[in-house]
Amino acid sequence: MKSMKSNETIAIGRLFESNFIEILNLYSNGKIGVVCDENTQTIAAQMIQKLHLIGKTNIYQITLPSGEQHKNLESLSSVWQQLTENNFTRKDLLINVGGGVITDLGGFAAATYKRGIEYINIPTTLLSMVDASVGGKTGIDYQGFKNQIGAFHLPKGVYVDPEFLKTLPQQQLLSGYAEVLKHGLIADANYWEYCVFTPFLEVNWNEVILKSIEIKNGIVSQDPQEIGLRKVLNFGHTVGHAVETYYINHGEELLHGMAVVVGMICEAHISFQKGNLGQIQLESISKSLSSRYNKVSIKESCFPEILQLMYQDKKNNSKGINVTLLNDIGSAQFDGLATEEEIYQSLHYYGTIKS
Ligand code: GLY
Repeated sequence: MKSMKSNETIAIGRLFESNFIEILNLYSNGKIGVVCDENTQTIAAQMIQKLHLIGKTNIYQITLPSGEQHKNLESLSSVWQQLTENNFTRKDLLINVGGGVITDLGGFAAATYKRGIEYINIPTTLLSMVDASVGGKTGIDYQGFKNQIGAFHLPKGVYVDPEFLKTLPQQQLLSGYAEVLKHGLIADANYWEYCVFTPFLEVNWNEVILKSIEIKNGIVSQDPQEIGLRKVLNFGHTVGHAVETYYINHGEELLHGMAVVVGMICEAHISFQKGNLGQIQLESISKSLSSRYNKVSIKESCFPEILQLMYQDKKNNSKGINVTLLNDIGSAQFDGLATEEEIYQSLHYYGTIKS
């Protein structure tokens, strides 16, 4: 496995064909709780079996129902309950095997159980490989708001096996790719060009995952608690989270990355309205994103509710709605303030784009 220097150990390679199981054994000489969902329970079981083979027996599989709608207090309580019933101590370990829901929720269970235990992440989706599992943001959704309750709690390690992507549905891959494109837009124009112009089937996933983690880590290591700079990683997410939440609250499914694409186009438009981003760059971004992603239906009658959801954005202070702005492709600035008019205009602009 290839490792990267960071506050967390980040390694990329084949999980079950390397010394990963031996490495795992080094993290804990106590109990291990393996948090997974219905989609990843087979991988979790395979890992537990291999740990048994090297004599590790105190392992408990905690399987949760799949889906964003289960990233809630009930699932979290079920993890706490199983740790408590099995007498986990503060020296024991959690391993989260899954997409962003599992790594966020399992990470938050680790952050809160007995005031914090160690955990490692084994991301199985592109979204969690390049974003959710890295950087220590943990949490659950609450009362219709995404990641409303949570904590910063860094994993001890993140182990990425790109082979898992081979069985990932295309829509899930596309959803994760939105975060990859975001990394290009906020930090590296050449990377953006590569990601936009390389046909999906020809993308070198190992390279992309490494590059995206490198960009994310470079930012997180300077501002782990999101006091300032880390907010650039939220580009596209002020509008994106509101659109995603709107869909969830109306009982419809919209993958996170698809909502982030809407958010990136709208926030690029807000950057344009504020004079930060040129029209040519705005149009190039909109064209590149809309040629790869289906248009999301957002009726004008939904705008007020979407706007209200933005008032819950975690970046906000009393001054208003905080957005990350683009200065150019590959360059972003945090702590922009968007007016309601600018947000409405950006949603109108999104509505005019042809996919
Ligand atoms: N997903 C954005 C961050 O980790 O800061």
